[in-house]
Amino acid sequence: MKKGYIILTLLISLGFATIALAITERNEPMATGKPLIIAHRGANDRFPEHTLMAYKIASKDGVDYLEIDLRMSKDGELVAMHDETINRTTNGKGRVSDYTLEELKKFNMVSTLDHKIVAEEIPSLREIFDSFSNTENFYIETRPVNHQLVMEEKVIELLKEYHLLNDQRVVLQSFSTKSLEKIKSIAPNIPLTLLFKKGKFDLNKAISLNFPIVGIESSDVTHRIVEKLHNNGIKVHVYFTNKKTQKKEQTRMKEFQVDGYFTDYILYTKEL
Ligand code: G3P
Ligand code: CA
Repeated sequence: MKKGYIILTLLISLGFATIALAITERNEPMATGKPLIIAHRGANDRFPEHTLMAYKIASKDGVDYLEIDLRMSKDGELVAMHDETINRTTNGKGRVSDYTLEELKKFNMVSTLDHKIVAEEIPSLREIFDSFSNTENFYIETRPVNHQLVMEEKVIELLKEYHLLNDQRVVLQSFSTKSLEKIKSIAPNIPLTLLFKKGKFDLNKAISLNFPIVGIESSDVTHRIVEKLHNNGIKVHVYFTNKKTQKKEQTRMKEFQVDGYFTDYILYTKEL
Protein backbone atom coordinates (compact mmCIF):
# COMPACT_ATOMS: atom_id res chain seq x y z
CA MET A 1 0.00 0.00 0.00
CA LYS A 2 2.80 2.38 1.05
CA LYS A 3 4.82 1.42 -2.07
CA GLY A 4 1.78 2.07 -4.27
CA TYR A 5 1.33 5.47 -2.63
CA ILE A 6 4.99 6.40 -3.30
CA ILE A 7 4.70 5.35 -6.97
CA LEU A 8 1.48 7.34 -7.35
CA THR A 9 3.13 10.43 -5.78
CA LEU A 10 6.12 10.06 -8.13
CA LEU A 11 3.88 9.75 -11.17
CA ILE A 12 1.86 12.84 -10.18
CA SER A 13 5.10 14.81 -9.58
CA LEU A 14 6.43 13.69 -12.96
CA GLY A 15 3.19 14.82 -14.57
CA PHE A 16 3.43 18.27 -12.96
CA ALA A 17 7.11 18.55 -13.92
CA THR A 18 6.27 17.71 -17.55
CA ILE A 19 3.47 20.28 -17.64
CA ALA A 20 5.76 22.90 -16.04
CA LEU A 21 8.47 22.16 -18.62
CA ALA A 22 5.98 22.40 -21.48
CA ILE A 23 4.71 25.75 -20.19
CA THR A 24 8.27 27.05 -19.81
CA GLU A 25 9.15 25.99 -23.36
CA ARG A 26 6.05 27.55 -24.82
CA ASN A 27 6.31 30.75 -22.85
CA GLU A 28 9.95 31.61 -23.38
CA PRO A 29 10.84 31.00 -27.02
CA MET A 30 13.63 33.58 -26.84
CA ALA A 31 15.34 31.64 -24.06
CA THR A 32 16.29 28.72 -26.31
CA GLY A 33 18.96 30.61 -28.27
CA LYS A 34 17.68 29.08 -31.54
CA PRO A 35 16.53 31.46 -34.30
CA LEU A 36 12.85 32.15 -33.89
CA ILE A 37 10.33 30.99 -36.44
CA ILE A 38 7.74 33.73 -36.76
CA ALA A 39 4.78 32.75 -38.93
CA HIS A 40 4.41 35.84 -41.12
CA ARG A 41 0.63 36.51 -41.36
CA GLY A 42 0.08 32.82 -40.47
CA ALA A 43 0.91 29.95 -42.82
CA ASN A 44 0.25 32.22 -45.80
CA ASP A 45 1.83 29.75 -48.25
CA ARG A 46 -1.03 27.33 -47.64
CA PHE A 47 -4.03 29.51 -46.75
CA PRO A 48 -4.98 33.18 -47.20
CA GLU A 49 -2.98 35.41 -44.87
CA HIS A 50 -4.34 36.64 -41.55
CA THR A 51 -7.15 34.05 -41.42
CA LEU A 52 -7.86 31.86 -38.41
CA MET A 53 -7.13 28.85 -40.62
CA ALA A 54 -3.73 30.26 -41.65
CA TYR A 55 -2.91 30.66 -37.95
CA LYS A 56 -4.22 27.19 -37.17
CA ILE A 57 -1.91 25.63 -39.77
CA ALA A 58 1.04 27.63 -38.40
CA SER A 59 0.14 26.54 -34.90
CA LYS A 60 0.10 22.87 -35.97
CA ASP A 61 3.49 23.37 -37.66
CA GLY A 62 4.89 24.36 -34.27
CA VAL A 63 6.17 27.91 -34.69
CA ASP A 64 7.53 30.25 -32.04
CA TYR A 65 5.23 33.18 -32.82
CA LEU A 66 2.17 34.00 -34.91
CA GLU A 67 2.74 37.33 -36.67
CA ILE A 68 -0.23 39.68 -36.88
CA ASP A 69 -0.58 43.08 -38.58
CA LEU A 70 -3.21 45.30 -37.03
CA ARG A 71 -5.70 47.75 -38.42
CA MET A 72 -8.54 49.51 -36.63
CA SER A 73 -12.19 49.47 -37.68
CA LYS A 74 -14.46 52.55 -37.72
CA ASP A 75 -15.79 51.56 -34.28
CA GLY A 76 -12.31 51.12 -32.81
CA GLU A 77 -11.94 47.33 -32.96
CA LEU A 78 -8.55 45.80 -33.77
CA VAL A 79 -8.54 43.43 -36.72
CA ALA A 80 -5.83 41.35 -38.38
CA MET A 81 -5.11 42.99 -41.72
CA HIS A 82 -1.94 44.15 -43.41
CA ASP A 83 -3.17 46.69 -45.93
CA GLU A 84 -4.98 49.94 -45.28
CA THR A 85 -7.78 48.67 -47.55
CA ILE A 86 -9.57 45.35 -47.78
CA ASN A 87 -9.17 45.27 -51.59
CA ARG A 88 -6.32 42.78 -51.94
CA THR A 89 -7.37 40.16 -49.36
CA THR A 90 -11.19 40.17 -49.32
CA ASN A 91 -14.10 40.31 -51.75
CA GLY A 92 -14.85 43.87 -50.60
CA LYS A 93 -13.46 47.29 -51.38
CA GLY A 94 -12.52 50.30 -49.28
CA ARG A 95 -10.54 51.25 -46.19
CA VAL A 96 -10.71 49.15 -43.02
CA SER A 97 -11.32 52.34 -41.04
CA ASP A 98 -14.47 53.10 -43.06
CA TYR A 99 -16.27 49.97 -41.79
CA THR A 100 -17.46 48.85 -38.36
CA LEU A 101 -16.35 45.41 -37.22
CA GLU A 102 -19.85 44.07 -37.92
CA GLU A 103 -19.66 45.41 -41.48
CA LEU A 104 -16.15 44.03 -42.02
CA LYS A 105 -17.36 40.62 -40.90
CA LYS A 106 -19.70 40.41 -43.91
CA PHE A 107 -16.79 40.16 -46.33
CA ASN A 108 -15.00 36.95 -47.18
CA MET A 109 -11.28 36.48 -47.44
CA VAL A 110 -9.85 35.87 -50.89
CA SER A 111 -6.72 33.94 -51.72
CA THR A 112 -4.02 36.23 -53.09
CA LEU A 113 -2.58 33.20 -54.93
CA ASP A 114 -5.58 32.07 -57.02
CA HIS A 115 -8.16 34.77 -56.16
CA LYS A 116 -10.64 32.17 -54.87
CA ILE A 117 -13.04 33.21 -52.11
CA VAL A 118 -12.67 31.18 -48.91
CA ALA A 119 -15.17 30.66 -46.10
CA GLU A 120 -13.25 32.85 -43.67
CA GLU A 121 -13.92 36.32 -42.28
CA ILE A 122 -11.50 39.04 -41.26
CA PRO A 123 -10.56 38.00 -37.72
CA SER A 124 -10.52 40.47 -34.86
CA LEU A 125 -7.51 40.34 -32.54
CA ARG A 126 -9.90 39.17 -29.82
CA GLU A 127 -10.96 36.19 -31.93
CA ILE A 128 -7.35 35.24 -32.56
CA PHE A 129 -6.69 35.33 -28.82
CA ASP A 130 -9.88 33.33 -28.18
CA SER A 131 -8.57 30.62 -30.48
CA PHE A 132 -4.85 30.59 -29.69
CA SER A 133 -3.96 32.42 -26.48
CA ASN A 134 -3.70 29.18 -24.50
CA THR A 135 -1.17 27.65 -26.84
CA GLU A 136 0.59 30.25 -28.98
CA ASN A 137 2.84 33.28 -28.70
CA PHE A 138 2.17 36.43 -30.69
CA TYR A 139 4.29 38.94 -32.60
CA ILE A 140 2.01 41.89 -33.21
CA GLU A 141 2.60 44.95 -35.39
CA THR A 142 1.14 48.30 -34.36
CA ARG A 143 0.96 51.51 -36.38
CA PRO A 144 -0.50 54.99 -36.02
CA VAL A 145 -4.10 55.35 -37.22
CA ASN A 146 -4.55 58.62 -39.17
CA HIS A 147 -1.36 59.85 -37.42
CA GLN A 148 -2.89 59.13 -34.00
CA LEU A 149 -1.49 56.64 -31.47
CA VAL A 150 -4.78 54.97 -30.67
CA MET A 151 -3.97 51.30 -31.11
CA GLU A 152 -1.41 50.89 -28.38
CA GLU A 153 -3.62 51.14 -25.26
CA LYS A 154 -6.20 48.84 -26.83
CA VAL A 155 -3.61 46.19 -27.60
CA ILE A 156 -2.18 46.30 -24.09
CA GLU A 157 -5.67 46.11 -22.54
CA LEU A 158 -6.44 43.05 -24.62
CA LEU A 159 -3.11 41.44 -23.75
CA LYS A 160 -3.86 42.00 -20.07
CA GLU A 161 -7.33 40.53 -20.43
CA TYR A 162 -5.89 37.37 -22.00
CA HIS A 163 -2.98 37.14 -19.51
CA LEU A 164 -0.44 37.55 -22.29
CA LEU A 165 1.71 40.29 -20.86
CA ASN A 166 4.23 38.08 -19.11
CA ASP A 167 6.86 35.47 -19.94
CA GLN A 168 7.75 36.73 -23.42
CA ARG A 169 4.43 35.47 -24.77
CA VAL A 170 4.17 38.55 -26.95
CA VAL A 171 6.55 40.77 -28.90
CA LEU A 172 5.24 44.07 -30.23
CA GLN A 173 6.78 45.49 -33.40
CA SER A 174 6.38 48.71 -35.34
CA PHE A 175 7.92 50.86 -38.02
CA SER A 176 6.84 53.79 -35.82
CA THR A 177 9.21 54.70 -32.98
CA LYS A 178 6.39 56.80 -31.52
CA SER A 179 4.15 53.75 -31.32
CA LEU A 180 6.91 51.74 -29.61
CA GLU A 181 7.66 54.57 -27.17
CA LYS A 182 4.00 54.74 -26.24
CA ILE A 183 3.85 50.99 -25.64
CA LYS A 184 7.00 51.23 -23.52
CA SER A 185 5.38 53.91 -21.38
CA ILE A 186 2.32 51.71 -20.75
CA ALA A 187 3.95 48.27 -20.53
CA PRO A 188 7.71 48.70 -19.93
CA ASN A 189 8.54 44.99 -19.82
CA ILE A 190 7.18 43.91 -23.15
CA PRO A 191 9.86 43.07 -25.79
CA LEU A 192 9.80 45.58 -28.64
CA THR A 193 11.04 45.36 -32.21
CA LEU A 194 11.87 48.43 -34.23
CA LEU A 195 11.17 47.69 -37.89
CA PHE A 196 13.06 49.34 -40.72
CA LYS A 197 11.58 49.67 -44.20
CA LYS A 198 13.44 47.99 -47.06
CA GLY A 199 16.38 50.17 -48.10
CA LYS A 200 16.04 52.37 -45.02
CA PHE A 201 18.05 50.46 -42.44
CA ASP A 202 20.11 52.84 -40.29
CA LEU A 203 22.67 51.16 -38.03
CA ASN A 204 23.36 54.27 -35.94
CA LYS A 205 19.66 54.79 -35.36
CA ALA A 206 19.17 51.12 -34.41
CA ILE A 207 22.00 51.31 -31.88
CA SER A 208 21.12 54.69 -30.41
CA LEU A 209 17.39 53.99 -30.04
CA ASN A 210 18.36 50.73 -28.34
CA PHE A 211 15.18 48.72 -28.72
CA PRO A 212 16.03 45.10 -27.86
CA ILE A 213 15.21 43.79 -31.35
CA VAL A 214 15.36 45.25 -34.84
CA GLY A 215 13.43 43.93 -37.84
CA ILE A 216 15.29 44.35 -41.13
CA GLU A 217 14.41 43.37 -44.70
CA SER A 218 16.82 40.65 -45.77
CA SER A 219 18.42 42.47 -48.68
CA ASP A 220 19.64 45.14 -46.23
CA VAL A 221 21.28 42.58 -43.92
CA THR A 222 25.05 42.00 -43.95
CA HIS A 223 27.32 40.00 -41.66
CA ARG A 224 28.84 43.24 -40.34
CA ILE A 225 25.43 44.69 -39.46
CA VAL A 226 24.41 41.57 -37.55
CA GLU A 227 27.73 41.53 -35.68
CA LYS A 228 27.50 45.22 -34.76
CA LEU A 229 23.94 44.82 -33.52
CA HIS A 230 24.82 41.71 -31.54
CA ASN A 231 27.82 43.51 -30.00
CA ASN A 232 25.34 46.12 -28.82
CA GLY A 233 23.01 43.52 -27.35
CA ILE A 234 20.38 43.95 -30.06
CA LYS A 235 18.74 40.95 -31.71
CA VAL A 236 18.09 40.78 -35.44
CA HIS A 237 14.82 39.48 -36.88
CA VAL A 238 14.64 39.39 -40.65
CA TYR A 239 11.65 39.81 -42.93
CA PHE A 240 11.38 39.20 -46.66
CA THR A 241 9.60 41.10 -49.41
CA ASN A 242 10.43 38.86 -52.36
CA LYS A 243 8.90 35.40 -52.23
CA LYS A 244 10.96 34.22 -55.20
CA THR A 245 14.29 34.84 -53.47
CA GLN A 246 13.14 34.24 -49.90
CA LYS A 247 14.38 30.68 -49.43
CA LYS A 248 17.82 31.56 -50.79
CA GLU A 249 17.88 34.65 -48.62
CA GLN A 250 17.01 32.59 -45.54
CA THR A 251 20.04 30.40 -46.22
CA ARG A 252 22.19 33.55 -46.48
CA MET A 253 20.71 34.87 -43.22
CA LYS A 254 21.52 31.62 -41.45
CA GLU A 255 25.24 32.18 -42.08
CA PHE A 256 25.00 35.53 -40.32
CA GLN A 257 23.32 33.92 -37.30
CA VAL A 258 20.27 36.13 -37.26
CA ASP A 259 17.91 35.63 -34.34
CA GLY A 260 14.59 35.21 -36.08
CA TYR A 261 12.83 34.79 -39.41
CA PHE A 262 9.46 36.31 -40.33
CA THR A 263 8.90 33.39 -42.65
CA ASP A 264 6.41 32.85 -45.44
CA TYR A 265 7.63 29.23 -45.69
CA ILE A 266 7.45 27.75 -42.20
CA LEU A 267 8.31 24.18 -43.13
CA TYR A 268 11.36 25.29 -45.12
CA THR A 269 12.62 27.50 -42.29
CA LYS A 270 12.18 24.69 -39.79
CA GLU A 271 14.59 22.59 -41.85
CA LEU A 272 17.22 25.34 -42.24
O1 G3P B 1 6.51 42.72 -39.39
C1 G3P B 1 7.59 42.25 -40.10
C2 G3P B 1 7.21 42.36 -41.50
O2 G3P B 1 5.94 41.80 -41.55
C3 G3P B 1 7.19 43.79 -41.94
O3 G3P B 1 6.68 43.90 -43.18
O4 G3P B 1 4.91 44.83 -44.57
O5 G3P B 1 4.94 42.39 -44.05
O6 G3P B 1 4.32 44.03 -42.31
P1 G3P B 1 5.13 43.78 -43.54
CA1 CA C 1 4.06 42.80 -40.31
